[in-house]
Amino acid sequence: MLPTIKTQTLSYFYMKNILLIGATGQIGSELTLELRKRYGNDHVVVTSRNPAKLDGALAAGPTEKLEICEGERINEVVKKYKIDTIYNLAALLSAVAESKPQLAWEIGANGVFNVLEVAREHNCAVFFPSSIGAFGPSTPHKNTPQDTIQRPNTMYGVTKVSAELLSDYYYKRFGVDTRGVRYPGIISNMTLPGGGTTDYAVEIYYAAVKEGKFVAPLGKGTFLDMMYMPDAIDAAIDIMEADPSKLKHRNCFNISAMSFDPEMIYAAIKKHKPDFRMMYEVDPMKQAIADSWPDNMDDSAAREEWGWNPVWNLEKMTEDMLKVISERHKKGEL
Ligand code: SER
Repeated sequence: MLPTIKTQTLSYFYMKNILLIGATGQIGSELTLELRKRYGNDHVVVTSRNPAKLDGALAAGPTEKLEICEGERINEVVKKYKIDTIYNLAALLSAVAESKPQLAWEIGANGVFNVLEVAREHNCAVFFPSSIGAFGPSTPHKNTPQDTIQRPNTMYGVTKVSAELLSDYYYKRFGVDTRGVRYPGIISNMTLPGGGTTDYAVEIYYAAVKEGKFVAPLGKGTFLDMMYMPDAIDAAIDIMEADPSKLKHRNCFNISAMSFDPEMIYAAIKKHKPDFRMMYEVDPMKQAIADSWPDNMDDSAAREEWGWNPVWNLEKMTEDMLKVISERHKKGEL
């Protein structure tokens, strides 16, 4: 009998040609570096609507200006570089999407449709990042199941559910290899998020290092799923490398690494910085969004079907975030 070759091993023989849309964002900027490390600089083409920002480390491989709203342009880039895998990271986060709902739909729904159409034509696999925002007030908030009620009341959530459904449709109807995860709030120290409801969990670390105090926009007891960036990056790559015969779900898998409220992250930081102070000034819009989202998701389907297993918890992440941000602050980068 022939030995079984894992898909992960196969990736070393078969080099992908990857297109990453939205490379200057919070996740895109770090995912670019890891994809290039694993597959080679020339095999990862990164794009932004604002090419001036594709500098520094992002310029170590091919870059292109691309608007996700222009389907023909995506087609052109896919043809030019013989792309076989697309990571679509373009999105407006939840709070900013409420102030620009039309643009949020353009990017988060029509943009996804454009990507799927190109993927159908050129036989590309597609990664799509859905979110805790794909759930709404009528979803069970504790241990939110993989398959449950999805009636979000934000434009961000409406686009995420639409994109999940579209991605499933393209897989079933046309055989496009679509896969995705529902990300929780992502905490990182390279590129700041912009306009998300979970952004406070990033900002609090910068405030702890720079100001010694922080004003929390969400109230005590507001629990949300969260994750440190290295786990988020591994998830995006691992699901695209997963053995397709094991996937019962595709779009999209619940994944989480921790769930906390502002008091818990405050306490974790205070262990390292005893003088740090936190006050509350609740932002009603962000609070309403957070209240409509799960407290903690059940991610057992991801664990069972493709081995999801996060390594960072609140304590380890806090230590690392404070270390990295303090170093950047000392160097005058912040
Ligand atoms: N981080 C996102 C937001 O807050 C949720 O996926 O909008």
